Amino acid sequence: EKPWVRMVTAQTPTNIAVIKYWGKRDETLILPVNDSISVTLDPAHLCTTTTVAVSPSFDQDRMWLNGKEISLSGGRYQNCLREIRAQACDVEDEEKGIKIAKKDWEKLHVHVASYNNFPTAAGLASSAAGFACLVFALAKLMNAKEDNSELSAIARQGSGSACRSLFGGFVKWIMGKAEDGSDSLAVQLVDEKHWDELVIIIAVVSSRQKETSSTTGMRDSVETSLLLQHRAKEVVPKRVKQMEEAIKNRDFGSFAQLTCADSNQFHAVCLDTCPPIFYMNDTSHRIISCVEKWNRSEETPQVAYTFDAGPNAVLIAHNRKAATQLLQKLLFYFPPSSDADLNSYVIGDKSILK
Ligand code: PMV
Repeated sequence: EKPWVRMVTAQTPTNIAVIKYWGKRDETLILPVNDSISVTLDPAHLCTTTTVAVSPSFDQDRMWLNGKEISLSGGRYQNCLREIRAQACDVEDEEKGIKIAKKDWEKLHVHVASYNNFPTAAGLASSAAGFACLVFALAKLMNAKEDNSELSAIARQGSGSACRSLFGGFVKWIMGKAEDGSDSLAVQLVDEKHWDELVIIIAVVSSRQKETSSTTGMRDSVETSLLLQHRAKEVVPKRVKQMEEAIKNRDFGSFAQLTCADSNQFHAVCLDTCPPIFYMNDTSHRIISCVEKWNRSEETPQVAYTFDAGPNAVLIAHNRKAATQLLQKLLFYFPPSSDADLNSYVIGDKSILK
């Protein structure tokens, strides 16, 4: 009998949190200490493309990331693979003459090839797009019947922020209460058409890999930061409600104020951690000052900034006009050719390289 191969390719954009997830209450299941809200980027930029294949001729699960083989032995990959295999169903592909029974999936192995069109682990949330794409592609390959929220609870076990990349638009990761994590999943708040005048610009301050992984950083923060406790209990629950309102009403003033405040508090928690974590650098701080000064000079804020576990600035402009002004200011104050400044800007389909 001729060995067959069944393949599925999926593409998933990354997401940027506007209310941050920082801190786990369960490290194995990846359960967070607070809800978070993110915006999923346009699939044309900062996305992962993953092809998954199954064949009776494969003798082990294997994965290649950006063309280099990586190990799948880590707990996070194993958890995702196990969970998704448990949901596999019968597959019948008449065209190719492939028939896979539900019980066969226990014995079959998969090969995974994944590409990021942006730097891995530079604080641009590459793991978010990666795990979301892996879980989604495997679900299609194995004909799993789960909806995207149910799949998000599996992607969450690969990387927390990944659960929010299963939807477009604005997405909320509900922290959940259950000990087994079954209610810790993502839901879509509004789709990508709801607020389509927003323009997101990423100022790539450095594409070097980050020094403190989010896993280590979060663990240290949970163990040592009193500010984190206060944030999770007193600040985020109210902020999440206000953010949901701002998004629903397309109220950019409130949206920008909440986004910037939440990014700043996340980085304050990092400073409050022992040992302290520095994700932003001087250039990041100068970008914040520049945006703050501009926002204050206008009647209402025109741009929101937010920084994840790295120095790169994610700037969300109110509309195209504000985005154009922003780029002009960035290019004036941070010309890509000057030494310690920015490497490039990514905006829509344009990237201005050094
Ligand atoms: O999912 P992780 O482990 O990469 O953590 C991501 C944490 C932040 O990006 C800093 C915040 C967030 O909510 O995405």
